[in-house]
Amino acid sequence: MKDLFEKFKNDKGPLGNYADVAEGYFVFPVFEGPISNRMKFNGKEMVTWSINNYLGLANHPEVRKTDAESAAKWGMAYPMGARAMSGQTEKHAQLERELADFVKKESAYLLNFGYQGNVSIIDSLVTKDDVIVYDSDSHASIIDGCRLHQGKRFTFQHNDVESLDKMLERATKVAEKNGGGILVITEGVFGMRGEQGKLKEIVALKDKYNFRLLVDDAHGFGTLGETGAGAGEAQGVQDDIDIYFATFAKSMAGFGAFVAGDKDLIQYLKYNMRSQVFAKSLTMPMVEGALKRLELLRQSPELKNKLWSVATALQKGLRDAGFDLGSTDTVITPVYLKGSVPEAMVMVKDLREKYNVFTSIVIYPVIPKGMILLRLIPTAVHTQEDIDITVKAFSAIREKLESGVYKRIGEEFIKKMRG
Ligand SMILES: Cc1ncc(COP(=O)(O)O)c(C=O)c1O
Repeated sequence: MKDLFEKFKNDKGPLGNYADVAEGYFVFPVFEGPISNRMKFNGKEMVTWSINNYLGLANHPEVRKTDAESAAKWGMAYPMGARAMSGQTEKHAQLERELADFVKKESAYLLNFGYQGNVSIIDSLVTKDDVIVYDSDSHASIIDGCRLHQGKRFTFQHNDVESLDKMLERATKVAEKNGGGILVITEGVFGMRGEQGKLKEIVALKDKYNFRLLVDDAHGFGTLGETGAGAGEAQGVQDDIDIYFATFAKSMAGFGAFVAGDKDLIQYLKYNMRSQVFAKSLTMPMVEGALKRLELLRQSPELKNKLWSVATALQKGLRDAGFDLGSTDTVITPVYLKGSVPEAMVMVKDLREKYNVFTSIVIYPVIPKGMILLRLIPTAVHTQEDIDITVKAFSAIREKLESGVYKRIGEEFIKKMRG
């Protein structure tokens, strides 16, 4: 019989296979200093475009003060126990009321993590008789929630409403036969490519099919819509989202998440979501910190305006310089280039070491083989100078990439690192 661990002696997974040359630099990099537009990496200050601190709240003085005061008052343990057992406080309930109000839903429920929350929302909403139809580019937390489903599931091609229509036709037949219902899942904003989910067109299919819609708006919450209520608000269909989900890990610069919808739905989830029923409640500093962040989202629209002016200038600068940004229609700024993984590694190293610009690299399997995606996350604390430095640096590295410099060094680099 094989040893269970045998499998990862030779194959550590698509990213793990590069761990020996990548760890500490390309993956698991260590930043120093406060979260901001410029951070220290490897002893050098860099323009940093890889942190989801959209509204700049991570180091906002009021946020830092509230976090510190709350931690000093309550410690990091309070309250102990799951919400339903001994983890309920008036502040948790207040935050839920304010979140529901902010996203224009009747009710909301706090989740400890977005990832687990998504898995558990999906798990608690479907039985084996129900059918799930979800976007093929969905976040891992959605895919993993769907994996728990014991009934039928279909994927539709990414953001392709015709494909969704076809899958709904099939799903309807299965659900009718089983006596179940249909759950459609998509994202408000797809975090890698920066495209909004086609919520308006998806909602229009409700005239033709009977389904409930779950939207993961992790990247839309706080960045899109007139009041920051997200992609649904931006597309005028917030009311038609049956289950609205967002995490605190992006615009709110914290951790935790929430789900919102009508009262009956939330009441059901409160008693049936295993990730919350069987887990300790969010602690007080996270809750009081989230209340402060939400207050800033409501009262400081200039933060969102600043984020958009930075994103617009960055995207214009890169497009004018001839870069392919795909079909982003949000602040997320993907730059697509052609090249291999070794080329991507030496190019990003050059970008950091020579030009002092830090971006993350996204490679296969997130995007097709032979493509490199440099993903830039603008924030409200970036400056025009940061943008100018970046556009110039990107033009320089593209020239080297196209002339084959990185191809040569890339192969040598991998050989040398692996001895
Ligand atoms: C689209 C999307 N959904 C869910 C999550 C998971 O959220 P969390 O980090 O709170 O677990 C993320 C990443 O943070 C995300 O980008």
